[in-house]
Amino acid sequence: MMDRKRVESALNVVLGIVIVVFGGIALKSYYENNFQPKTFKQPEFHAPPLYKVEAKVPDGTDPDARPEADSPHAAFDPWLADHFTAPIDLQGEPPQDWTEIEANLSPESCGTCHPQQLSDWQTSWHHLGMGPGMMGQLVDANDGMVKACQRCHAPNAEQYPRLKGSEAGAAYQENPEFDADLRVQGLTCAGCHVREWTRYGPESDAHPVGSETAPELGEGETADSEWADPNEGIPHGGFVAKAAYKEAVFCERCHDFREGEGKVLNEKKLQETYQEWRRTEAAAEGKTCQTCHMPDGAHTFKGIHDKEFVQTGFEATAELKRLGDKPLEPLEAELTITNVGVAHRMPSYTTPRIVLIIEQLDEGEAVIEGTKQAFFVGRETTLSLSREVYDTRILPGESRTLMYSAERAEAATGLSARVEVWPDEQYRKNYENWLSTNMYGDEGSAILEEAHEAATNSRYIAWERSVDLASQSE
Ligand code: HEC
Ligand code: HEC
Ligand code: HEC
Ligand code: HEC
Ligand code: HEC
Repeated sequence: MMDRKRVESALNVVLGIVIVVFGGIALKSYYENNFQPKTFKQPEFHAPPLYKVEAKVPDGTDPDARPEADSPHAAFDPWLADHFTAPIDLQGEPPQDWTEIEANLSPESCGTCHPQQLSDWQTSWHHLGMGPGMMGQLVDANDGMVKACQRCHAPNAEQYPRLKGSEAGAAYQENPEFDADLRVQGLTCAGCHVREWTRYGPESDAHPVGSETAPELGEGETADSEWADPNEGIPHGGFVAKAAYKEAVFCERCHDFREGEGKVLNEKKLQETYQEWRRTEAAAEGKTCQTCHMPDGAHTFKGIHDKEFVQTGFEATAELKRLGDKPLEPLEAELTITNVGVAHRMPSYTTPRIVLIIEQLDEGEAVIEGTKQAFFVGRETTLSLSREVYDTRILPGESRTLMYSAERAEAATGLSARVEVWPDEQYRKNYENWLSTNMYGDEGSAILEEAHEAATNSRYIAWERSVDLASQSE
């Protein structure tokens, strides 16, 4: 009898604790949901897969076709289908009569004769793509992982510490041609322009595509004019002109995943910038990746990390909807951005976030704590890539709006509305996660600390307005 009583009272104590704890949690979350100012207001939105987007494919081909070897894209030039292999084959022996500077893959050596391309490219993310965020993950990485990542980030075989033998089933072994300095330079000139020492480049007046010999002579031209042999007198044996350098499909191999490459979440690949572009009005009008990312041949490849460039891509407006100075009527405002200059989703990859923010300001223009609300434009997945959390990326012509609604703070005299860009956000979260679990060991973590800091410091404000509340009241 005594025992049962004791058990009962013990159970009551436990039950009491459970009620207090869970009741507390429920109360707390009720309070947070209803009385606390919301700092994060992200609607569940999942942008539709590409096949549901109206197709404006410039070449009239199947909008969902991806450039496989036998697709219309490769038919455009079969040379391109083999241009970006993983890795790009070793260059082999250079022609014997070449000078050391011609037979040199380092970008600096190309730069002695192509200085503008070199200085442009040195500021680009093609060059920076083997930074600490990548190198931290490659510490102790197996050969398969190195290959999977370097095929886009540092694709030449000379950049691989180890290579597979050529026979079927051959194992990886030390690469005698490995060049550690070239590796950290990322996607170099050679990655896009040099195969077996032959230079390939865009068509020029003196080098029409397909002309190994002189074009027909024009009025007043003689056979010994500059047209006679387009390659004569040019270092590195001249070059082969390829129309593909002016086409968007040239960028496809690294800016799009194909069948079987990478995860597919909600019927969308993790990266499909080229396929997005094919469906845009700009593509139909003949604007290629190069038109926007290589204006006048510039090798800067500006993108989401560059404020002025990103500003060419969107328009923003901020509007006050309600002053919030009457009882029970909250302060309301809207901040809208529209994709007016990005010929793919804005942003395209899962890495960046474009953040719409409104918060209240006091008389001294200082932000009033607790009044901030934000809307995240981008595609968020779980860190394990198991699920898409939201996808609010913006197709050309589309808009997204932050609808601000909050109690007006007593001291509020204005609003700050702004568009912040966080170029490296998804990776920043990864770094944070990996650092907390020491996933890449002490050596890897030391490098990833650097990457985390850089990914935090790369944020910037791309657009900002303040809205005066006082002048709006009657
Ligand atoms: C000794 C000087 C010199 C060096 C070194 C050199 N080039 Fe050139 N290259 C030239 C000249 C001259 C031309 C022809 C004129 C032009 O188009 O700039 C040329 C043409 C080219 C072209 C074709 C341009 C076009 O109009 O399509 C490409 C591509 C190219 N070089 C890439 C490279 C790369 C990559 C390297 C380094 C691996 C390199 N070059 C090293 C002098 C050089
Ligand atoms: C061999 C693979 C490869 C090819 C080909 C390639 N890219 Fe890239 N590109 C990359 C990689 C890798 C990155 C990312 C580097 C990083 O952020 O670490 C990148 C990044 C970029 C960025 C982003 C810059 C930013 O601010 O984030 C732009 C823009 C870009 N490339 C444009 C182009 C264009 C245009 C072409 C075609 C003319 C092209 N790329 C061809 C591999 C490639
Ligand atoms: C199909 C080409 C491709 C492959 C394969 C690839 N990447 Fe990338 N990577 C990119 C592009 C493109 C970007 C830039 C996206 C942007 O600017 O928004 C990028 C960005 C990154 C960044 C972020 C750099 C920054 O901007 O802060 C890191 C780190 C990175 N990649 C690591 C890796 C690793 C590790 C692997 C292998 C597991 C890998 N990548 C495989 C194309 C590729
Ligand atoms: C991501 C690939 C990529 C990389 C990396 C790259 N280029 Fe290019 N390059 C191109 C493309 C594409 C064009 C054609 C651009 C156009 O005319 O629209 C081009 C054009 C050129 C031309 C012809 C210039 C002209 O005005 O006719 C030269 C020379 C050249 N590149 C040299 C270099 C050198 C040197 C480097 C390294 C410092 C380099 N490229 C890195 C893709 C690349
Ligand atoms: C009409 C101009 C335009 C064209 C055409 C265009 N882009 Fe962009 N791109 C932009 C602008 C502006 C941004 C910066 C805003 C953003 O990231 O969405 C950008 C950003 C990027 C980025 C970096 C970050 C990201 O994930 O959004 C990459 C990579 C990129 N473009 C690749 C390409 C490729 C590859 C093509 C061709 C298939 C292409 N772009 C065609 C204007 C253009």
